Amino acid sequence: MSDLRFDGRVAIVTGAGGGLGRQHALLLASRGAKVVVNDVGGSVAGEGRDAGPAETVAQEIRDHGGEAVADTHSVATPDGGEAIVRTGLDAFGRVDILVNNAGILRDALFEDLTLELLEPVLDVHVNALFHVTRPAWRIMRDQGYGRVVNTTSAVGLLGSPRKSNYGTAKAGVAGLTRVLALEGAGHGIKANAIAPIAATRMLTQHLGDTADGRPRHDAATTAMMDAVVGSLDPALVSPVVAFLAHEDCPVTGEIYTAGAGQVARFFTGRTRGYHHPALSMEDVRDHLAEIRDETGYTVPDGPGEEIAQLLRVIAVQSQRATE
Ligand code: NAI
Repeated sequence: MSDLRFDGRVAIVTGAGGGLGRQHALLLASRGAKVVVNDVGGSVAGEGRDAGPAETVAQEIRDHGGEAVADTHSVATPDGGEAIVRTGLDAFGRVDILVNNAGILRDALFEDLTLELLEPVLDVHVNALFHVTRPAWRIMRDQGYGRVVNTTSAVGLLGSPRKSNYGTAKAGVAGLTRVLALEGAGHGIKANAIAPIAATRMLTQHLGDTADGRPRHDAATTAMMDAVVGSLDPALVSPVVAFLAHEDCPVTGEIYTAGAGQVARFFTGRTRGYHHPALSMEDVRDHLAEIRDETGYTVPDGPGEEIAQLLRVIAVQSQRATE
């Protein structure tokens, strides 16, 4: 089988001045894509600006014989999103691939969450998907081809304390990915998401000391985590992103977790549940184990299939009642 390449394709990678985004940009460029390396160059909390990281990565790509242009607009505003996509059009004449990767963290307990801790996180992770993806989407629709790879997180899918802002945003990313997949289906556009695990400055902050400088874990746990973190090279996430961004990608609307060279799929399952035509509170209490039992769960591909499953249960029960 031949190598997968992106010759003639133009990719935008947001937040590509470091961490995961840099690796995604380097891999796509090494396989022939022309890349817009977008990054505001801020801190993990999204403070400050520095044009250096985006330009450094773009230069690194050019030094290796690739084609890249730096872009320092913020994904967090509609104007920024339009400008990022415009950079791709002006430099390379088209946009085929959008990797929504930019991210920040502003952790706090739910009761301590201020608007300053909430709004920038929603802006960079979830509102940005509208700001950057909509202008790119219009181009993809017109050309009848596109690949969108979003970045969600286990925090959004499974939850994590002190991250109500981030978890909400990342759950939104997962939901939007499903909708984009459906709306893109008739237009040659595929949209998928990754939930990465990688040793970047963001993960280090997540695992490191608490905000007041106290160690979050005991020494043994910290030593074990250091060993695990050592195997979490962000470059091992990028092959999953690049495959989802490739013309040959057969899937859409899916979420893949990737870290340390392992790839797996997250999905939303539905238990078989319990049905009673005159359901009472006590039925819920008395049948909770059956309601929660994961044996024979299904993975509905949309709300229509879920309703169809419900209607089948009702039909079977009514049939039994008349027998
Ligand atoms: P990172 O902090 O190294 O990279 C994030 C990049 O986004 C930075 O270079 C930053 O300057 C850029 N950025 C922030 N705000 C921006 C804005 N408004 N406009 C443009 N660029 C902006 O962190 P990492 O780990 O590489 O994160 C990449 C993505 O992966 C994020 O969406 C993050 O939430 C997600 N993620 C990472 C995990 C990990 O284990 N590292 C786990 C789950 C999700």
